[in-house]
Amino acid sequence: NDGDTMPILVIGTGYGGAVAALRLAQAGQNVVMVEKGMSWTQPGSDGKVFSNMLEPDGRSYWLRTKTDQPINHFMGADYNKSIPSYTGVLDSEAFSGIRIYQGRGVGGGSLVNGGMAVTPKQENFASILPSVDAGEMYSTYYPRANAGLKVNNIDQTWFQTADCYQFARVGIKQAQRSNFSYTFVPNVYDFNYMKQEQADTAPRSALAAEVIYGNNYGKNSLDKTYLAAASGTGKVTIVPQHAVTTVSPANGGGFSVAMNQIDTSGNTVKTKTVTAQKVFFAAGSVGTSKLLVTQKATGKLPNLPDAVGKGWGNNGNVMVARQNQAWDATGSLQATIPCVGIDNWADAGGPAFAEVSPFPAGIETFASLYLAITKNPNRGVFSYNSGSGGVDLNWQTAWNQPSIDCAKRIFDKINSKEGTIYRTDLFGEYKTWGDDFAYHPLGGCVINVATDNYGRLTQYPGLYVIDGSLIPGLTTVNPFVTITALAERNIEKIIADDFH
Ligand code: FDA
Repeated sequence: NDGDTMPILVIGTGYGGAVAALRLAQAGQNVVMVEKGMSWTQPGSDGKVFSNMLEPDGRSYWLRTKTDQPINHFMGADYNKSIPSYTGVLDSEAFSGIRIYQGRGVGGGSLVNGGMAVTPKQENFASILPSVDAGEMYSTYYPRANAGLKVNNIDQTWFQTADCYQFARVGIKQAQRSNFSYTFVPNVYDFNYMKQEQADTAPRSALAAEVIYGNNYGKNSLDKTYLAAASGTGKVTIVPQHAVTTVSPANGGGFSVAMNQIDTSGNTVKTKTVTAQKVFFAAGSVGTSKLLVTQKATGKLPNLPDAVGKGWGNNGNVMVARQNQAWDATGSLQATIPCVGIDNWADAGGPAFAEVSPFPAGIETFASLYLAITKNPNRGVFSYNSGSGGVDLNWQTAWNQPSIDCAKRIFDKINSKEGTIYRTDLFGEYKTWGDDFAYHPLGGCVINVATDNYGRLTQYPGLYVIDGSLIPGLTTVNPFVTITALAERNIEKIIADDFH
């Protein structure tokens, strides 16, 4: 409520925020979490909490009147649909050279993501975050994160015959024929539940085209893991539909935090200001970066370092699809949960880790779709725009060319071996590469650069950053296990040193 005081406020309920809240509560602290999205617990008129990808409605997107699907065309036609404007679960946030997809709601990105729970190779982690003790991460914090997230592995015997993974088996076969190595990828989606879906003994979710607008069943998103455990301590209060706007030092100590309570149309129904002794920024790479550059530029937190807003990257994300031969059907029933990656990171000429992605169109498409994570050296900068009062990101679409070059090293070779071609009808009219959007925003408040080596904003004791903005633009694999493990490491140190 307006005027409240509290010991700890966490801004955002994604991976970083969920870890912070749980561990602080277990250490005996009372925590308030604010989240600008909704609490996704109430079913709509169709009896379901989330809408699927084939029939999206207002629940799908954050305040849009038309869907903005990553695959926005199909055989020359615009694939997007009109929807009512609503505070839906997936945000496609547009900057000049890139659209950045993010989850909105209690659970953040875990509500909309593919659940791929990948621990990077230790040598790759060490090259990205040299200031963080990799030995400790791999012995303690990655295992802790994997356990907390309920990561599980697919039954590879079942995989060999399941209809819903024909697309992935084709992906493996073609990778092998071109001498690429592949790996099964763990997930937070419960693969035992998926077996029941395939056997028609449980309601379908992954097998009913549900994922980027939320899964009604099967997925262990954060609201079922870390956030449920945090609430279970009785010490954590989660306040949805509240968007933080300003943070500044309060007279008499702590921080004054202003926020807008919003309705499902996105309109502010009330403005509130609270005072918190300690504030954790966990609004995600984009959300935290936007908040921090704004506070610095508008004089609310003028002493924040110049490194705030810098070092942003898209994890080298690029998407592409190939059109298979008639004997390589990919299946009309496709699990929305990817479980296989082609690992070409060791290729010094263009490192890439490409997940074999589903294309759950409900019909046979003969298409193989991939989301590649590549080593792209370009980094963007967030800056406050005093004219609009918003925050710009200077990323340019052309900066994704290095990512395309890395991905081509895999898919040009597979195309030539299979006698196949790229599809050009999915990411626009006559456009091969999905190079103008990202699923994996990272950086903007890089650890040991903009913060100390544990996420403290040292100019303001009591302010912390604990989300994907700490990671310098790249994780070499899908990022959320690394975000979670790093948060586990940092919060342990912060609790030990800063809470007495
Ligand atoms: P995260 O974005 O999760 O949470 C931030 C929260 O803060 C959000 O809920 C947001 O609404 C809230 N917030 C923002 N501003 C606020 C404000 N001013 N006030 C209050 N609240 C605010 N990763 C992976 O490892 N495997 C995968 O398979 C996938 N797949 C995937 C698919 C899709 C479609 C997307 C969009 C993303 C993925 N990802 C993924 C990426 C993954 O989801 C992402 O890296 C993490 O969610 C980031 O975690 P954070 O804790 O940094 O923030």
